[in-house]
Amino acid sequence: MFEYAPAPESRDIVDIKPSYGLFIDGRFVDGSGTPFKTINPATEETLAEISVASPEDVDRAVKAARKAFEGWSALPGSERAKYLFRIARIIQERSRELAVLESLDNGKPIRESRDVDLPLVAAHFFYYAGWADKLEYAGLGSKPLGVAGQVIPWNFPLLMLSWKIAPALACGNTVVLKPAETTPLTALLFAEICQQAELPPGVVNIITGAGETGAAVVGHPDVNKVAFTGSTEVGKIIARTVAGTSKKVTLELGGKAANIVFEDAALDQAVEGIVNGIFFNQGHVCCAGSRLLVQESIYDDLLGALKRRLALLRLGDPLDKNTDIGAINSAEQLAKIRELSNIGAEEGAERWSPPCDLPDRGFFFPPTIFTGVAQSHRIAREEIFGPVLSVLTFRTPAEAVEKANNTPYGLSAGVWTEKASRMLWMANRLRAGVVWSNTFNRFDPASPFGGYKESGYGREGGLAGLEAYLDV
Ligand code: NAI
Ligand code: MG
Repeated sequence: MFEYAPAPESRDIVDIKPSYGLFIDGRFVDGSGTPFKTINPATEETLAEISVASPEDVDRAVKAARKAFEGWSALPGSERAKYLFRIARIIQERSRELAVLESLDNGKPIRESRDVDLPLVAAHFFYYAGWADKLEYAGLGSKPLGVAGQVIPWNFPLLMLSWKIAPALACGNTVVLKPAETTPLTALLFAEICQQAELPPGVVNIITGAGETGAAVVGHPDVNKVAFTGSTEVGKIIARTVAGTSKKVTLELGGKAANIVFEDAALDQAVEGIVNGIFFNQGHVCCAGSRLLVQESIYDDLLGALKRRLALLRLGDPLDKNTDIGAINSAEQLAKIRELSNIGAEEGAERWSPPCDLPDRGFFFPPTIFTGVAQSHRIAREEIFGPVLSVLTFRTPAEAVEKANNTPYGLSAGVWTEKASRMLWMANRLRAGVVWSNTFNRFDPASPFGGYKESGYGREGGLAGLEAYLDV
């Protein structure tokens, strides 16, 4: 184990206010619900008090968005693009501030918020800004839907906001967005960025609160489009709410991705891909490679290399630039990870973690591997959404496909092999929205993302992502 001197990123760059209102019609106003606190999950300190939008507040936000829709949708696409480019540039200019705030509120390592989340957020706005005046060329017409009600989770707060807001605005819609209750701060800073970009009032409305506020957004009769990312459980509730209405819906839900390693794969690269697949963002990733499928012939070599690599991961202060694994986002999520891990051990799988000191404050969970996992085990079937990897083995490509597809989900998969013909054979048979070839967790705004089966429906990103916001 190497020792490093701490290298914390300064938090002086962020200016967190004691309390925040709702961003409606271009201004911050108090919500009428009972405010709640958002905390830093790495220290459990309170960061700020957050307003709660009641159904009446939600109605005000939807009305503001409806009023703004008239002007916004009538603007030439080239004018809307100017606003989106401006927002993208401000995000780049303020990216350090946004990254530090994201790490404080979410617990993710600054190395990831700085080098992954923020560059992708800016890229998403640049990408859709480029489409705003070319919608006709996309062959989808250029008729927006109206008001989009968007509800997002806590694992990639600002990135999920960009996935929702950028295509909606490019197509001429206006939005009411609700961030997750544990991570509202970067969305509220984004609201300030909308002011800074002089976006017309009401085009973007950000309202905070928990599930009830989200339900009010989704159920509002004057919302034309619902976009949700989160749990399959809530996704099903939303699908029922909108059934029988004319609302257009995209749902991006859970996953239980297989990361499949064949005996001819480059071993060290595969190990890096496995680590990135499940330990990136503490495993709080819908497409996390939480099931490792290893060809039997390389099992011992691969497991040995993986364990040696895990012993080098550094867990701790998310603001430290050396940190690989930060804090679990909330006490509730930590309890869920602990519970499922205990069940895994009780069901007979073998649990292993490297020696790892956990900080005495905050929510942390060590990187964990389960071996001897059977298909029937709950850790192989249920989304853990934490730094926990289940390892299974296979002998033939057909068996790998069968095991990989044996899940109610179908969001992503990774395949590691030297052989291109095998790669294509696998990709054609895996029931997953994304199949990564000798890599994992790679994102690009031009590439559509979404699931099969209980992972949801609709695609976000790329050309397909425009369709979700146009009346085609
Ligand atoms: P959740 O689905 O409850 O929360 C996601 C968002 O939906 C939040 O903004 C929440 O306030 C909102 N929400 C909750 N109930 C709602 C309702 N009835 N109507 C409208 N909006 C509602 O997810 P939660 O409880 O934070 O996490 C539970 C599990 O879900 C995790 O352990 C993980 O397995 C999975 N999850 C999957 C995500 C993904 O990216 N696909 C993201 C977050 C969680
Ligand atoms: Mg919940």
